[in-house]
Amino acid sequence: MINEIKKLKEEKNAIILAHNYQPKEIQEIADFLGDSLELCIKASEIKDKDLVIFCGVDFMAETAYILNPEKKIIIPDLDADCEMANMLHEEELLESMKENPDAAVCLYVNSIAEAKQHATTLCTSANAVEIVEGLDADVVLFGPDNNLANHVAEKTDKTIIPVPKGGHCYVHDALTVEDIEAKRKEYPGVEIICHPECKIEVQHACDQVLSTGGMLKYIKNSDKEEFILGTEVDMISRLEIEVPGKKIYPLSDEAICKKMKFHNLEKIKEALENEAPIVSLPDEVAAKSLKAVENMLNK
Ligand code: 13P
Ligand code: SF4
Repeated sequence: MINEIKKLKEEKNAIILAHNYQPKEIQEIADFLGDSLELCIKASEIKDKDLVIFCGVDFMAETAYILNPEKKIIIPDLDADCEMANMLHEEELLESMKENPDAAVCLYVNSIAEAKQHATTLCTSANAVEIVEGLDADVVLFGPDNNLANHVAEKTDKTIIPVPKGGHCYVHDALTVEDIEAKRKEYPGVEIICHPECKIEVQHACDQVLSTGGMLKYIKNSDKEEFILGTEVDMISRLEIEVPGKKIYPLSDEAICKKMKFHNLEKIKEALENEAPIVSLPDEVAAKSLKAVENMLNK
């Protein structure tokens, strides 16, 4: 299967991009692995490939499409969407914008394109604090993740209004302070790193709060040998590939993003063969969203 994928990739002049939460078998065959920001940057740089096979959830593939509307962006399983992104509807965002006419709008890249098109800028968990800090407004509508909104509110002087109320990631929001206390007993002295999509009290109870890309850099550069990660379990697969000597434990074995696992090698092979399913957006939505993506990337 791996050889067939490699052959098809050559024939079709394709590149495989994969998020850090993809199953290990996909991480091992990907041409590029990254967090949401790194994948956006990579997507903006793809010049010489005809096909992009995007192994991640739909908002990530849509961002690649927004940056490359002339290319075929293919997602092996079209049903791989992000439950958090689906929590902020366009109408609710427009309503909040009407109620707060002077506010800037910073949307997490984990949002649907219909919402993205109205944003002043986008952000990812790797750059949210810096992006919000740089906005020319004191009040910022921020969505859909309320936990990331709280993280940003604590780290900047801006007034953050979360939209919608209660927006969250079911994978990260389920992690608890009790999980941390239990791991501290089981692994005394081992550093605990969590993602900013975790609840604010979980963030406070951890030693570091980092995006998935930030976790990788931090662990690579640390002289410590063991870490506990409060994020999706396949982040550990990425670390096993990149820093094989270190021991990484999950804060919870149940932190699994089900839709990220919709992709597999068989579907990647079929996607290459059929050049489908393709990701596309209405021209107007893609053009308006491009401004918000570029405002983030040009910061
Ligand atoms: P990262 O940008 O840290 O990879 O996070 C993306 C995501 O969906 C986390 O749940
Ligand atoms: Fe969305 Fe959460 Fe899955 Fe990330 S882990 S893609 S935020 S549902």
